[in-house]
Amino acid sequence: MSEQPGVHGISGTILDAPELGTLRVRANSLVVVGSDGAIADVVEPHDAAYATTRDDLERRSRMVEVAGYLLPGLVDLHVHAPQWPQLGKALDVPLEDWLNRYTFPLEARYVDVGFSAGVYRSLVAALLANGTTTAVYFGTVHRPATQVLVDECLDQGQRAFVGKVAMDHPEACPDYYRDQSAAQALEETARFVEYVRRHDDNERSLVQPAITPRFLPSCTDELLAGLGELAASTSALVQTHCSESDWAHQYGLTRFGRTDTASYAEFGLLRRGTVLAHSNFISDPDMDLIVDAGAAVAHCPRSNVFFANAVFPVVRALAAGVHVGLGTDIAGGPSPSLFDAAADAVAVSRLLEDGVHAGLAAEQRGVAGSRVSFADAFWMATTGGGQALGLPIGLIEPGYQLDAVAVSPDVPGTNLDIWPDDDSADDVLQKIIHNVSRADITGVWVDGRMVVG
Ligand code: GUN
Ligand code: FE
Repeated sequence: MSEQPGVHGISGTILDAPELGTLRVRANSLVVVGSDGAIADVVEPHDAAYATTRDDLERRSRMVEVAGYLLPGLVDLHVHAPQWPQLGKALDVPLEDWLNRYTFPLEARYVDVGFSAGVYRSLVAALLANGTTTAVYFGTVHRPATQVLVDECLDQGQRAFVGKVAMDHPEACPDYYRDQSAAQALEETARFVEYVRRHDDNERSLVQPAITPRFLPSCTDELLAGLGELAASTSALVQTHCSESDWAHQYGLTRFGRTDTASYAEFGLLRRGTVLAHSNFISDPDMDLIVDAGAAVAHCPRSNVFFANAVFPVVRALAAGVHVGLGTDIAGGPSPSLFDAAADAVAVSRLLEDGVHAGLAAEQRGVAGSRVSFADAFWMATTGGGQALGLPIGLIEPGYQLDAVAVSPDVPGTNLDIWPDDDSADDVLQKIIHNVSRADITGVWVDGRMVVG
C-alpha cells in the first residue's frame, strides 16, 4: 500500500445522514483531509474560509473535484468472502441444504491458498468498486487462506474485519470441512488474531480480526465457551449468525432451551461490537440483551428473502435501541452492492407492513408501522454500520476518517438519470439507491486514500 497522502481536499455535493431518517445536504462543499486520513474540516460555500481554503489547495494541486455527489463509504456488515464465486446462483434450496450441497464444498476448496488468492483479489476489488469501504468478512476454516484475505484488504486499501471461521461440530459440519477439534479451532483463531495485529502493513489497524463462530449448529459447547474467553482476552470483535431461519432458530431452542441471542450471551460472545447476522426471529428480551451488550444486527434483506422465512423487524429493533447496519450476505444475497441492500431494506419493510397474502383481509395481512424510508436505509448503510462497529466512519464531518464514495451522474450509458431542476436531494438519494452501478462510482476513498478512480 502506498504512503498516506498529505493534506488534500475533495469538493462535491455531500450527502450523508447524521440522524436516522434525515438526509443532510451540503452543496458544492469542500472536505479537507489531513495526512492521517481524518477529516479536518468541511467548508461550505457560504463559510468565510471557503475561497482561501479552496485557492490554497488548488494552488498546491491538492484538490480533487467530484463531478456530482460525495457520500460516506458504505459499511457492509456481513460478507462471506469465499462464497464470491457462487454470487448470483445456487439459491434454489433452503439454508441447511444450501450449506451442504453448495457452500461447504466450495468453502472446502480454500485449503488451496492459490485459489483463495485469485478469488479474494477479485472480491475486494469488486466491493471497493461498488462503494463498500468497510467490509466485515467471514473467511473459511483455513487460517492460511483467511490470512490471504487480510493481505488483500491491506494491499487494496479496504477497511475490514476478517475472521477465520470456527466450526467443529461433527454433526453439523462435514468431515471434509471442519476444525478437527475445539482446541485446534481455538489455537488457529488465536494465531489468526495475532497475524492480523502484527501485520507489517497494518500499522493503522485498517484490518482488524474477528472471532467467528459460524453459527450454533456448527460449534460444540467447548468451542463456543473457548471463543467467548478468547474474545474477552483479545478484545477482538465477534461475528456470527443469529436466529436466521425457522430451522436455525428452532435448532438453538431445542439444543440449549433458550434463544440464540441468550446462548451467545451465556458463552460470552455477546459483546460491544458483536455483529449478529440476520437475527430475524429475535424476541423483545433478545433485543434488550443486544442493547445491554452494545452488540449489533447485520440486516441482510436480500438473503433473507431466500433463507429466512421472515422479514427482519427493523423498525422494532431500531426503536429498542439496537445498533443496526446492512449486509449483502454474499452469496446468500446475490448482489455485491450495499446500495442494493438499502433498496431491499426499504422494499421488504413495505412487504412486512402490508403483508403479502392477497387471500387475507388487508388489515390482517401485515404488521403496521414496519416501513423504513430511503433516508433510514442510507443511514443504516453508513452511519449505522459505523456505530455498530464503534469506528469513526459513516459520516463526512470532522472527527471521522475520510471513507467516501463519489457518484457522478453524467457517465455515458448510465441508468442514473438526474434532472437537476426536478429532483430534490431526497429524490437524488432514492435514484442513487435504486439505479447506481459500478460505472457511476467514479471515486472511492478509504482512510483518506483514493483506492478507486
Ligand atoms: N448460517 C451458517 N452459515 C451460513 C452462511 O454461510 N450463510 C448464511 N446466510 N447463513 C449461514
Ligand atoms: Fe451469512
